[in-house]
Amino acid sequence: MVRADAPGKIILFGEHAVVHGQPAIAAPLHAVRATAIAAPAPHASGLTVYAPDLDLTRRLESLDDSPDDPLHNALLFPLQVALRYLEQPIPDLTLTVRSTIPIASGLGSGAALATALVRALCAALDRALPNDELNPLIFQVEQRHHGTPSGIDNTVIVYEQPVYFVRGTPPQPFAIARPFTLLVADTGHGSPTHTTVGDVGRLYAAEPARIGAIFSEIGGITQQARRLIEAGKVAALGPLMDRNHDLLRQLTVSSGALDRLCAAARAAGALGAKLSGGGRGGNIIALVDEERAGSVADALLAAGAANVIRTAVRPPG
Ligand code: PMV
Repeated sequence: MVRADAPGKIILFGEHAVVHGQPAIAAPLHAVRATAIAAPAPHASGLTVYAPDLDLTRRLESLDDSPDDPLHNALLFPLQVALRYLEQPIPDLTLTVRSTIPIASGLGSGAALATALVRALCAALDRALPNDELNPLIFQVEQRHHGTPSGIDNTVIVYEQPVYFVRGTPPQPFAIARPFTLLVADTGHGSPTHTTVGDVGRLYAAEPARIGAIFSEIGGITQQARRLIEAGKVAALGPLMDRNHDLLRQLTVSSGALDRLCAAARAAGALGAKLSGGGRGGNIIALVDEERAGSVADALLAAGAANVIRTAVRPPG
């Protein structure tokens, strides 16, 4: 039996603008993870994926058929992509998957599940797959989920380290001079990333000058944030998060619930707050001093957060 896992992720700066060529910064969310366990199955029984939390069993019938349904895309498509890449037939194997990453809330559950499944498959087949080869495979899975993803989710999840990311270029790891604490607060509403990405694309096509200027400002904020993180000046990230959130509102991807949670966090003493991910649902992140983390988390719950996760952004290892 072999076991593999992958973390969730949060986007710190630059979502949406990253789809249009600007940089973004993302970090792994270690507190929530997807796990896959591979166990040998009887001869000629094929490959079965079992998701006990969903009470669901799916069998991989072929390497070619690819029905475009969400469960196939989440559980079987990653295995098809990997087996085709490895030029392997369908093995006799049972893969059991579990995840503590909330689904469809911008925390990377799809990419993490795919990463854990493919890693467990490779381990069971005794085929080492370096991250540089795994990452493009998980990007293919993301394309099934989202249409035109930037690639930031799969990159931060596969490498499990904070990255500065520009679409179409290799991920740039960067120094984190001082770890810092974030609260991740869930609105409890799903986040339809492909819809918000499509809407922002249409807005850009309709008003290229105004929206292009917003993308550029978000890109500038992201570059500034990288320099501050590298210099250990983390408190100065707060105002940048607030401004990034404002700009995301102008891109129409915030919501009443996201704005309320950001306001509640700031009022309770957070240094800054913004939505994280596709928007119109999903999560906000709030930057907090260690000693304020508890009271800001309480304020977020009182303001209607369905769940609050505390995480540290820190150097890998
Ligand atoms: O998967 P989410 O909801 O965290 O959103 C990803 C961030 C976007 O920039 C909105 C889309 C993308 O592909 O980069």
